[in-house]
Amino acid sequence: MTVKASSRREGNVFPRRLNPPLPVAVKSDGVWIEDQEGKRYLDASGGAIVVNAGHGRVEIAQAVYDQILAYDYIHPTMFTTPAAESLGSALAAHAPEGIGRFYFLSGGGEAVEAAIKLARQIHLANRRPEKFRLISRWKSYHGLSLGALSAMGRTTFRTPFAPMLADAVHIPPPYCLRCSYGLTFPDCRLRCALALEETILNMGPETVSAFLAETVSGGTLAAYPPPPGYLQAIRDICDAYDVILILDEVLCGMGRTGHWFACQHDGVVPDLVTLGKGLAGGTVPLSAVGVNNAHFEAICSHGGGFVHGGTFSHHPVAAAAGLALVRILERERLVERVAEWGPALGETLSNHLSDLPWVGDVRGRGFLWGVELVNDRASNTPFPRDQQVTEKVWQALFDRGIITYKSTGLAGVDGDAIIVAPPFVMDSADFEYVARNIRTAIEQVLADQNRER
Ligand SMILES: Cc1ncc(COP(=O)(O)O)c(C=O)c1O
Repeated sequence: MTVKASSRREGNVFPRRLNPPLPVAVKSDGVWIEDQEGKRYLDASGGAIVVNAGHGRVEIAQAVYDQILAYDYIHPTMFTTPAAESLGSALAAHAPEGIGRFYFLSGGGEAVEAAIKLARQIHLANRRPEKFRLISRWKSYHGLSLGALSAMGRTTFRTPFAPMLADAVHIPPPYCLRCSYGLTFPDCRLRCALALEETILNMGPETVSAFLAETVSGGTLAAYPPPPGYLQAIRDICDAYDVILILDEVLCGMGRTGHWFACQHDGVVPDLVTLGKGLAGGTVPLSAVGVNNAHFEAICSHGGGFVHGGTFSHHPVAAAAGLALVRILERERLVERVAEWGPALGETLSNHLSDLPWVGDVRGRGFLWGVELVNDRASNTPFPRDQQVTEKVWQALFDRGIITYKSTGLAGVDGDAIIVAPPFVMDSADFEYVARNIRTAIEQVLADQNRER
């Protein structure tokens, strides 16, 4: 049966995108998605950088099926379950030293909000009730619910709701391409990390609860990794002022960068770490907050438990999917595969794109790469937002049957980039195919645009 997609005028779904009406997806397998017209799309971004083990994994389907028949909804304040316990242990085995407890939720933004609350409760447990304020970064992405949005630093998402947002203080991100201080690495001596210390001192260290940052900047800064030393510098500053370091790895965790946890690249251990997106490979909603053992002990000893929850937290069926995903990554050595093939993906993109006058930068780590588009390469001047360059290039690729991910707001409200973040099973022939098509799409959109001007 052919289904008509909901649009502005028809149907009963409130669609995520109003115009043009969305195609109707009916099948997914490996690195491919198919719509009901039979058109196939190469999923070069795992949707929203979610699908890490590939679509249609039988092992995960079987685990979910078995789990529902064994026991399905079990309320997390009444019971624990082997499903949740096993996933906790499986994650702890790969986590940075000391991260030994996992609180399971459904969405990435939920995990971020839980981490912000947990940081506060850790201070309460440690008899520091005056510590409550949050510092995060501009040009970050942490989710769209009000708490996560307050922390997030993407201007266009914040603006409509600005009067409703809580009072997080934002500092500049480590984004060397457009350094907020006009400096160059390494002569800058990590000025952007020192901004954290400066801000803590300005706010009063006794009031600051936590610093929240993406380990590798994802959705807004398009896969921009921090410069060497940055993460260690912010770790040291947090330690000096008793500030909880929350690393948001909803997008860059679960093997995406070639490490199980992206912070392992720099050998830095956060107090709290968030996971989501790839945690169940995209099969069911699942997220988590990883918690340092010492903080867990503090909550147990003095805090009387975490004042938090959710009807669907610690859900056994989601946990079963997550555990099956972890076992696939382990058995097929997919995180190792990302570490091995990630540089080739980056090189292929660079080789095909770097000479284009509109490509300002190709950067990334593992299977997470960003291609930043600029109006003028010498000055890194972005295109004005109303030219919708990202959207047009993305659409041109989608029309050609290639799925990438959009990133905008890299320079205030302006700034354009396309993210390539394929499932870990994608092979190198597909890298070439994706890179060649991105080149064609950019040329098609920007040559046309220049002609129109
Ligand atoms: C780093 C990061 N944190 C949090 C989120 C929010 O996750 P969700 O959309 O599942 O709420 C995202 C989503 O893109 C993200 O990239």
